[in-house]
Amino acid sequence: MISLRTATRDDIPVLADVLANVEAQVDPSIDVEECRKAFAEGIDGYFGADEPESILSIIELDGAPAGRFRVVRFPDRILLGGIQIHPAFQGNGIGTHLIRALIEESRSTAKPLHLDVDRNNVSARRLYERLGFEQHAESERDFHMAFHPDRGVRHEQAGEDLIR
Ligand SMILES: CC(C)(COP(=O)(O)OP(=O)(O)OC[C@H]1O[C@@H](n2cnc3c(N)ncnc32)[C@H](O)[C@@H]1OP(=O)(O)O)[C@@H](O)C(=O)NCCC(=O)NCCS
Repeated sequence: MISLRTATRDDIPVLADVLANVEAQVDPSIDVEECRKAFAEGIDGYFGADEPESILSIIELDGAPAGRFRVVRFPDRILLGGIQIHPAFQGNGIGTHLIRALIEESRSTAKPLHLDVDRNNVSARRLYERLGFEQHAESERDFHMAFHPDRGVRHEQAGEDLIR
């Protein structure tokens, strides 16, 4: 079962481990232990300093920590501020499940769901497009994408295009 629980300072080693392993996946030359230490120091400063609307969660799969999930709920929009699944747990539908839940929230609250994806992260971008996100702007580093609950999503099903 996939679940979320709010992260606390006690989770810093778990968060740092997820981020370091995701980083090492992109750049295998990095020293994971050094990277873990650097993230742990950085995350320590996060607690109490982040926006009050922000919720940082630990993703769990059957009770085992599997990733990091940060959502910011603004009055007019929802921001997926970060999703990182530990490489050992990637590709099992966890990301899709969690983003679909936010899409449902976007629909029920009629608030658009925003996220930024690194320009080089082609795989993540493909996932977001499949789920109905559209690129609306870009920066030097990222593509800015959004799911708009009022626009409908095109789903391929049994060879037919369905709009819902
Ligand atoms: C992107 C990510 C959140 C998706 O979650 P997931 O549980 O692995 O994904 P799902 O199993 O639900 O869906 C699989 C899709 O995710 C994407 N994906 C899978 N592994 C990925 C990876 N290492 N990096 C980026 N995207 C990945 C692909 O689009 C894949 O679809 P495909 O098999 O058709 O190529 C997760 O893989 C991850 O944390 N990757 C590394 C960090 C990252 O890129 N975070 C997103 C920053 S915007």
